[in-house]
This record gives sequence, C-alpha cells and structure tokens, in this order.
Amino acid sequence: MAKIVYYSQTGQTRKYVHKVKQYQAIEITPSNFEIEMNEPFILVMPSYEPNIHPIVTDTAAEFLETKCNLTLCKGLFGVGNRNFANLFCITAKVLAKEYNLPLLHQLEFQGTASDVTKLEEELKLIEQI
Ligand SMILES: Cc1cc2nc3c(=O)[nH]c(=O)nc-3n(C[C@H](O)[C@H](O)[C@H](O)COP(=O)(O)O)c2cc1C
Repeated sequence: MAKIVYYSQTGQTRKYVHKVKQYQAIEITPSNFEIEMNEPFILVMPSYEPNIHPIVTDTAAEFLETKCNLTLCKGLFGVGNRNFANLFCITAKVLAKEYNLPLLHQLEFQGTASDVTKLEEELKLIEQI
C-alpha cells in the first residue's frame, strides 16, 4: 500500500495529508527522519526558503538518503503560499531538482478538496506501477 510522508512546521501540511483517509501518513521531523520505507510513497513538503531555514530541506534530504527511500519516492507535493511569488513551493522544487524526482502538484496551506483528490489519485497511480 502506498504511503504519504510529510514534514510540517506549523501544522498546515499535517492537516492537509490527514484529509486523505485511505492512506497512512508518516511525519518526519528534524529529530526523526531516519525512517526506512518499504513501500512506494509521495513526499509532501511545506516551503521554507532553504537559505534561511535549511533544517526543513536538510531533514527531507536526510530522509530521502536513508536506505532505499529515494528509489521508493515516486514524487513530491509542494505546499506553500503564492504570496511568496517565485519562491512558491521552493522546498519541493529544490528537492525535486536535487534528487531528480517529479514535482507532482503544488498547493497552498491545508489544500482544497481538489488538492486532496489529487493526492489520492497520485497514490492510486503509484500502486499500479
Ligand atoms: C517563516 C516562513 C517562511 C515561508 N516561506 C515560504 C516560501 O519561501 N515559499 C512558500 O511557498 N511558502 C512559504 N511559507 C508558507 C508556508 O510554506 C505555508 O504556510 C505552509 O502551508 C506551511 O506548512 P506547515 O504548517 O506544514 O509548516 C513560509 C511560511 C513561514 C511561516
């Protein structure tokens, strides 16, 4: 069964991923990121400019580099705020580029109903691969 892995600094991403009921969501934090995945997953990341808040990007990078996690990561969802203009969803964009992963979707805050459906659809798709 596909899984969701996410990071959340202020709780918005946590609220978003928990709207998807059929799939388990696993939280990574700066003190708990060496989680070994055994099934394909989508990584959902909020956005904090890497130069100013390196801990967010670094935590995700360390998680992706744990065991075979990178191979099992089927893509990223970026969560951000469009007011940040060209920095919108910067964390997911940086990670997607660095690890050559698809950036599957970008959304704001806790996500709309269609952002929830999108995550459910992408999880279903990766189970069919
Ligand atoms: C200090 C700070 C910096 C942020 N920087 C960005 C940013 O560079 N780009 C962006 O799209 N959103 C930015 N945001 C918005 C957050 O990514 C957005 O509110 C997100 O939903 C927060 O998720 P979280 O509550 O799970 O941490 C920033 C928010 C804060 C508080």
